[in-house]
Amino acid sequence: MDTVAPAVLPASPDALAERLFAATLGAMDLFAVYLGDRLGYYRALFEDGPATSAELAGRTGTAERYTREWLEQQAVTGILTVDRADVPAADRRFSLPDGYEAVLVDPESPSTMTPAALLMAGCVTPLTQLVDAFRSGAGVPYEAYGVDLLDGQAGFTRPQFVHQLSQQWIPAMPDVHARLLSNPPARVADVGMGLGWSSIAIAKGYPDVLVDGFDLDAASVGAARANAETAGVADRVTFHHRDAGDRDLAGRYDLALAVECIHDMADPVSVLSAMRRLVGDEGVVMVVDEKVADQFTAPGDDIERFMYGFSILHCLPVGMADQPSVGTGTVMRQSTMRAYAEQAGFRGTEVLPVVHDTFRFYRLTG
Ligand SMILES: C[S@@+](CC[C@H](N)C(=O)[O-])C[C@H]1O[C@@H](n2cnc3c(N)ncnc32)[C@H](O)[C@@H]1O
Repeated sequence: MDTVAPAVLPASPDALAERLFAATLGAMDLFAVYLGDRLGYYRALFEDGPATSAELAGRTGTAERYTREWLEQQAVTGILTVDRADVPAADRRFSLPDGYEAVLVDPESPSTMTPAALLMAGCVTPLTQLVDAFRSGAGVPYEAYGVDLLDGQAGFTRPQFVHQLSQQWIPAMPDVHARLLSNPPARVADVGMGLGWSSIAIAKGYPDVLVDGFDLDAASVGAARANAETAGVADRVTFHHRDAGDRDLAGRYDLALAVECIHDMADPVSVLSAMRRLVGDEGVVMVVDEKVADQFTAPGDDIERFMYGFSILHCLPVGMADQPSVGTGTVMRQSTMRAYAEQAGFRGTEVLPVVHDTFRFYRLTG
């Protein structure tokens, strides 16, 4: 994904209106993709081939009239193709173009974009609460964002865990990679693991390793346990419904990992301190978080726009739900991360040389 583009201020009110009209069409595309994903339309077209509206409705257990409107919308917006437009509506046959399954069907594809649709739907689930939060200064609890946010977040990171975590990210620390491949079996703590795909990827990439995942969100922990069962690694991966900042967290780990969660935490320093304690003198703490610019710049590039968008809709409000809160938000700059690490007692914060569009990789030592 080539995400870095120079942002420009629209040259005139008309240009701004055009940009927002294009954004409206984009939002409609995303929510139509949401329906296609949740209702199984794309998967049915991919697995069983082209269909009329009645056939697709039959395959997916949906209502023909709605299915027909969705199919026509998809063809008009240029995602699906239609064999003939000049026949009665009921006779039109719609197809998923070859290769589009990588974007719309395969959850482990690096090109998958259905999680973006789920994430956006999740972000606006508590919209009224969000408006109130902006007025009152209170937070919006993680649970208020519902299952779409959980699935969207997990769907966004899952392909990266499958293809990169044990192939590139951990090997960027050769000593840790070697330890995870050696005996006695290494132990990994996966903090804020959400639906657990990072823990599962580690267990698959390192066949002897034992993983403990810790997450505050009960629904995520339940789903993560089911995912580990299905993936066949539940004997080596255990998920705990716990605050990772809990002073009573016990155990000794070779690696403590936190992916895309430190910026969401009300008290990131207590969680980093707990991770430091869990790895002791021998282990390593790795934080994977957003690759934002070092300074505020406006207009910003696409990555800054993407991160600020999530920050106002989700990350800052969830980070404010528990008080007192440092109120980090998605845009956690390097200097902020380094300050948190220092306050947690780490002596060194190294940025690892992993090439990635949106993540930065920190190894904390000391
Ligand atoms: C944005 S999600 C990231 C999930 C997962 N690591 C991923 O990359 O897909 C942030 C997660 O951090 C968890 N979290 C936030 N504060 C936490 C805390 N103090 N202890 C444990 N988990 C926490 C949330 O419940 C949520 O599952």
